[in-house]
Amino acid sequence: MSIVYNEKNRTIKLDTPNTSYVLGIHNGGFLINLYYGRRLPDDNLWNLSFRHTNASFSPSDPEYTDFSTDVAPMEYPTNGRGDFRVSALSVRGADGSSTTDLRYVSHSIFSGKPDMPGLPHLYTDDDSLCETLEIIMKDPLTEVEAVLIYTVFSDCDVISKHVRLTNRGNRTVRLERALSSCIDLPTMNYNLITLWGRHNKERQFERRPLAHGLQGIHSKRGSSSHSHNPFAALAEKDATESYGNVYGFSFIYSGNFTICAEVDHNSSTRIVMGIDPTDFGWMLAPGESFVTPEAVHVFSSEGLGGMSRIFHSCYDSYLIRGRWKNEKRPLLINSWEAAYFDFDTDKLISFAERAKELGIEMLVMDDGWFGKRNDDTNSLGDWFVNEKKLDLGRLIDSVHSMGLKFGIWYEPEMISPDSELYRSHPDWCVHVEGRKPSVGRRQYVLDVSRPDVRENIFSQINSILGKYSVDYVKWDFNRNISEAASALLPPEKSGEFFHRFVLGTYELQNRLISEYPDLLLENCSGGGGRFDPGMLNYSPQIWTSDNTDPIERLSIQFGTSLCYPASVMGAHVSACRRTGYRTKGDVALWGTFGYELDPNKLTEDEQGIVKEQVAEYHKYYDLIHAGSLYRLICPWDNAFVCAWSFVSKDKREALVTLVRIRKEENKIFHLMLEGLAPEAVYTIEGTGESYSGALLMYAGLDLSHCAQNDGESFKLHLIAE
Ligand code: DGJ
Repeated sequence: MSIVYNEKNRTIKLDTPNTSYVLGIHNGGFLINLYYGRRLPDDNLWNLSFRHTNASFSPSDPEYTDFSTDVAPMEYPTNGRGDFRVSALSVRGADGSSTTDLRYVSHSIFSGKPDMPGLPHLYTDDDSLCETLEIIMKDPLTEVEAVLIYTVFSDCDVISKHVRLTNRGNRTVRLERALSSCIDLPTMNYNLITLWGRHNKERQFERRPLAHGLQGIHSKRGSSSHSHNPFAALAEKDATESYGNVYGFSFIYSGNFTICAEVDHNSSTRIVMGIDPTDFGWMLAPGESFVTPEAVHVFSSEGLGGMSRIFHSCYDSYLIRGRWKNEKRPLLINSWEAAYFDFDTDKLISFAERAKELGIEMLVMDDGWFGKRNDDTNSLGDWFVNEKKLDLGRLIDSVHSMGLKFGIWYEPEMISPDSELYRSHPDWCVHVEGRKPSVGRRQYVLDVSRPDVRENIFSQINSILGKYSVDYVKWDFNRNISEAASALLPPEKSGEFFHRFVLGTYELQNRLISEYPDLLLENCSGGGGRFDPGMLNYSPQIWTSDNTDPIERLSIQFGTSLCYPASVMGAHVSACRRTGYRTKGDVALWGTFGYELDPNKLTEDEQGIVKEQVAEYHKYYDLIHAGSLYRLICPWDNAFVCAWSFVSKDKREALVTLVRIRKEENKIFHLMLEGLAPEAVYTIEGTGESYSGALLMYAGLDLSHCAQNDGESFKLHLIAE
């Protein structure tokens, strides 16, 4: 890892172990992205970089007519100054113009990574593990200063970037676009890969060739959303799981976002990432600053699998924090699919008793314990115990006395129209004055952009967590935001609402884990509607999807794994009927394992399988949570069978899982493994067969006879001698 300034060439080169990112400072102060890709020894790239001759239609600064922002690979492109592609920054000055022009002023390089107060971000406690570059740029007319902040890490091919914008002038300006990053690549020979979805079908892999013009994804739902994940990749057209150049883009943010690629008239590609400019606007008074959320860039020359493994180790090491970053997570049972709203103290105690016999370690009481809530029509916001239904003290004492941990469900950013909170504070819901607020799942959104609202909700949560001993909180969020406005924001600041809402959520979650550092927080949003790196900075795990059908889960978990490690994916075995319990368990092992069923309804045989699964959960925990993932056969490539493996970092151990989705008659099935040490000899546990890593990877194993029937699964555990 290093960041080096070459004074003669006026280039700045950021190196990670295997990649280089090179910036150039042009005479006019234009900052250019000269190169991003596989690591290079050189830093004089001026002659190699693409700088097309200006066409007569391309505007130029009259002092620098050899240069046009219309064609140059601009590092942080602005609006209205001759770069007609999608821009990263647009500032409306006090004169009403939105023309914005940033020029290089100075830069500094230092070890460590600056904090980003109020925003989730990559971090490290050891400054020697990373280095940071700050480049100061300034618009001479509006006097807006942009500090571009990049960090590289010593053991990870990641470059993170965010921008601090400060009004250094004496007149208020308005940010109309303030994105976090831009990468300009010289060709359009890429496929754009994104993760689309909906409730119960999150993060589905989609791959499309780039075309001239704009393409991409965004969310204006107030959260990162089920519909699109704040992740994208640009993969060379022939790149596969294990081969080819791939750029990965991930945005550490949980609200409205855009990831937009544009192929221009020179067939070069720009990709920008940041807060979605729709409905965004931020007033910057003199002296005020705005900090964009952090963008994470990955480059791998080892295909999509290589890219994913870089994201996994980066997020495991530098995003997840707190006690549960390294500590083994408890194996839980959740009451939702077991009982929905229909429970009382004794029923939950009976779940805990049976769960204990099976080896489960924590009971989570889901929705339905507060206010007068027996269905989803009421009580969000009334975070006091429904004493008609529940004796919370007795429940928690019983659960703890069995040696189990106890968890509880909240949906803090919501308010039911039928709640005491709404009756006393009708203006606390998100609404536009004079319009009836829309309902979603019969609820309104609570305006957590307001400090008084946050205080109320936190003190309600605190009154439970301060009184009882609670080990885990599931934090849910079950609708998108419409009529986005806050009663406290003046009209000129209405464009700040969405971002202020997200900042409010972050403040609440940060306060919760700071005051209760031992608490395990799990985020959720109707399954995986807010499954993003922003949330992961507060909760080390997120409920992946409400869809617990193991066959449906395959495409959800494979898609999720493009960017997110196994350690963060909530995956539970439920009572769904599609496959047997073995397949359910084998699929759920790829995540933070748990159960979501009534344990008293399990047959003797099923209980036996659950006990075996609990043992496997412990046996494979380190391998799955600390190992490297290889997607061997992906659901987007094969409708009949899926396979994946976890390989320990020292390559001495591997767990291969295969699921037969649909049997193909008379088909010989060969599986080639990946990531093993070619020279090592691996023994397949239980069979005594031994093979070299080379044979397992290059010749493969004939698994035609395994998992013969639709929905069956099969595992191979390999240990090197
Ligand atoms: C949606 C979540 O995804 C479920 O797991 C459950 O917690 C329900 N909400 C409760 O309302």
